[in-house]
Amino acid sequence: MAKQDDLFKNVVSHAKEYGFIFPSSEVYDGLSAVYDYAQNGVELKKNIREYWWKSMVQMHENIVGLDAAILMHPTTWKASGHVDAFNDPLIDNKDSKKRYRADVLIEDYAEKLNQKAEKEIEKASTRYGEAFNREEFVSTNARVVEYLAKKKEILERMAKSLEEDNLADVKALIEELEIADPETGSRNWTEVKQFNLMFGTKLGASAENAMDLYLRPETAQGIFVNFLNVQKSGRMKVPFGIAQTGKAFRNEIVARQFIFRMREFEQMEMQFFVKPGEEMKWYDYWKNTRLNWHLSLGLGRENYRFHDHEKLAHYANAAADIEFNFPFGFKELEGIHSRTDFDLKAHEQYSGKKMQYFDPETNSNYTPYVVETSVGLDRMFLAVFSNSLKEETLEDGSTRTVLTLPSVLAPTKAAVLPLVKKDGLPEVARQIIDDLKWDFNVSYDEKDAVGRRYRRQDALGTPFCITVDHQTLEDQTVTIRHRDTMQQDRVKISTLRSIIENEVSMKNWLMRAL
Ligand code: GAP
Repeated sequence: MAKQDDLFKNVVSHAKEYGFIFPSSEVYDGLSAVYDYAQNGVELKKNIREYWWKSMVQMHENIVGLDAAILMHPTTWKASGHVDAFNDPLIDNKDSKKRYRADVLIEDYAEKLNQKAEKEIEKASTRYGEAFNREEFVSTNARVVEYLAKKKEILERMAKSLEEDNLADVKALIEELEIADPETGSRNWTEVKQFNLMFGTKLGASAENAMDLYLRPETAQGIFVNFLNVQKSGRMKVPFGIAQTGKAFRNEIVARQFIFRMREFEQMEMQFFVKPGEEMKWYDYWKNTRLNWHLSLGLGRENYRFHDHEKLAHYANAAADIEFNFPFGFKELEGIHSRTDFDLKAHEQYSGKKMQYFDPETNSNYTPYVVETSVGLDRMFLAVFSNSLKEETLEDGSTRTVLTLPSVLAPTKAAVLPLVKKDGLPEVARQIIDDLKWDFNVSYDEKDAVGRRYRRQDALGTPFCITVDHQTLEDQTVTIRHRDTMQQDRVKISTLRSIIENEVSMKNWLMRAL
């Protein structure tokens, strides 16, 4: 655990030191769980967004984009269920005055039981070696069976209590399990209360006429209310999708783990409208397609897993998360939900306007079902960034910090370095930059010894360093150094564009997702 904590601390400090992420309004000591993307972070984030957008909109004939406003008519949120049900159960500790999500306290307790079981399994696996049969051990070892059964019992009881809004039982469970304040150890808890996560704001100049609004807690509702506008103006035929990226806001009770859980964040969502009865086929299709998109980035198959929901939200008939192995363990990265016709029907009811699709093939109207894919852009950033940050020991015993970002996402694709600041080398380097910058983000660096410049670019995740030396003046060649292997090749300046293109082109990377 200490190792995981250290790794995570490194991620946070590297993001700041190398201009990826700063705490918001830091001069005023920051704002909890709100962050600014700095000069390199904004490029990485933009590239992830574009990688998603291309795979969704450009590569699917039947998916179009949308950019709906953040502010929406307040009835939207009544219809969607957010006003009444977008709550988290919170509990305060009377001694420490710290606030927690009651369900997270219980889930953390259950996770500890899981970890105990995993430890037993690991020990046995080492003891028995190749002869070890995990499945058999899990179902027969008394300790493991007991840990897992207890975990299941706790989570089922919590789910039932939350579903029935029986908050007294959630508190009783916390007390029975003797769960203490993780920071102070105190068990002096208040009652559990529901807390709505939407941020309120006002529209209008005078207090009397002001209208109460919400900052959207998800981008999806902007898609639902525009469903018919897009379908008719784009002459879309079911099945079709609407994709959108944009900010969402949630007043999270416990916002921690850096950009994993923020109060202002960005989502990349796609609602796929299908014929009722065909939703399970499309749900499977999108689960598979989205996992392949993630895998195409090469962060390692072992770092992803599906978590199929047993307890479904009131609007869903199937749901799964794609979980990623973050520095603090496997957590939700993306959600794939089969949302039935809940949202369109609710907007139809609250607005009094028909939200149905006319099917020209059958000459009849129906309300489409919806399969949604929803991934947090900031969580994608954290997944990519934390997985890429490495401390390597080199052959000569020295160490280097390298950010092995998928080169398609790297903020800067190449740095051009004149070996010395004289003899006409900077001028040639500038010429190379002037030529390459039409196609790629490139940077110029002439400060310090070339070895230190390589290290600086490694830490920024720049896939290529191009060094201009005296030989360049004679034969128009440069050395090109590859970030991950540190291998250097001597190549003609005229070939640089195609070498870089081959490595960073979205086409080449996205083709791996097919
Ligand atoms: N429209 C469905 C929806 O909003 P969600 O599971 O609440 O579903 C979807 O959110 C995704 O948005 C999550 O999988 C996660 O990646 C991201 N997300 C949710 N809350 C977040 C937060 N507070 N900070 C950062 N990302 C968040």
